Amino acid sequence: MSIVADGVDAALEWSIVGSFTRVGAALRRRLDRWAPLAGRDLGGRVVVITGATSGLGLEAARALSGMGATVEVVARSAAKAESTCAELRQASGNPNVGFVVADTGNLEALRRAATELRERHPAIHVLIHNAGALEDVRQTSPQGIELTVASQVVGPFLLTGLLLPALKAGSPARVLWVSSGGLYSEPLSVDRLEMTGEEYDGTTAYARAKRAQVTLAALWADRLAAERIWVHAMHPGWADTPGVARSLPKFRRVLGPLLRTPADGADTLVWLAVEDGAPLSETGRFWHDRRARPLHRLSSTQRSDTPEERQRLWRWAVDKSGLSIR
Ligand SMILES: NC(=O)c1ccc[n+]([C@@H]2O[C@H](COP(=O)([O-])OP(=O)(O)OC[C@H]3O[C@@H](n4cnc5c(N)ncnc54)[C@H](OP(=O)(O)O)[C@@H]3O)[C@@H](O)[C@H]2O)c1
Repeated sequence: MSIVADGVDAALEWSIVGSFTRVGAALRRRLDRWAPLAGRDLGGRVVVITGATSGLGLEAARALSGMGATVEVVARSAAKAESTCAELRQASGNPNVGFVVADTGNLEALRRAATELRERHPAIHVLIHNAGALEDVRQTSPQGIELTVASQVVGPFLLTGLLLPALKAGSPARVLWVSSGGLYSEPLSVDRLEMTGEEYDGTTAYARAKRAQVTLAALWADRLAAERIWVHAMHPGWADTPGVARSLPKFRRVLGPLLRTPADGADTLVWLAVEDGAPLSETGRFWHDRRARPLHRLSSTQRSDTPEERQRLWRWAVDKSGLSIR
């Protein structure tokens, strides 16, 4: 990477808006000379992806099925999953696109889905935790866990653990988490992760869940490195998806054409799934626009991120999910 590219990248990062909008993707694509991904051959690889019925997940599934991967969509609506799979098969000419039904906040449904996936695919090569939403109103999962953390932290944690035998069989394998730049505002605090009824605020709950995701990704990375399972998290910037239109309509109106396309938002995710260079030279990193990024921008959140709090988060996730792992 050139000094000019590094300088522009640093200026974009500093500005935040420049980095997260389509400006960042356009400049970095050119200056870092992003290699096109479309021609890769993923024949024989199995990819499991949550939240592929819309937005970034749909875009990633489109790209990966187009490269010949066997794609399994984990979706909460069977009807949506069916039409998504039909669309993906038709667009890619790849018949190997299927689905299992599970809300990622429902631990029992995830257990059933994981069993089905393991039966269908003894080896899985890529697991993508993409499903996510910003919920204005506090809800709870069937197991009584606040829904934001249930569906974006506890559920993905459980699914990772349940699919480990298949990921080991598929190694070198990858587990990827779609987080958000919103995490930069929140410290790591296990006690404040699951918000109660009185204090609940959707944006805060979302940012805390996203902070927990990247932390768990790093902890999984440490545990799975010896198995040759690479674990990374990424953030997509700000992309114009149905999720953003639904949850952040004012934000969408203000940024308008500056929002990224879903394809730009999903680019780093797809790159992490298929590229054998940088993503396999280290594990447990947090990426944006094909470069590793810091986990913290503020000293206050940095101070919260201690080894002890990380271990507390791991134990909390084990307890909440009921996964048999220590
Ligand atoms: N777009 C952005 O600018 C942006 C920025 C930062 C982070 N992200 C993250 O990117 C990911 C994708 O978001 P998006 O913008 O593409 O949103 P989206 O268009 O709303 O797509 C979200 C996907 O997740 C699924 N989903 C949500 N909750 C689920 C649950 N409990 N169980 C199963 N599936 C669930 C949705 O299923 P249904 O179709 O059934 O609703 C949909 O397929 C999320 O993790 C989000 O936090 C997005």
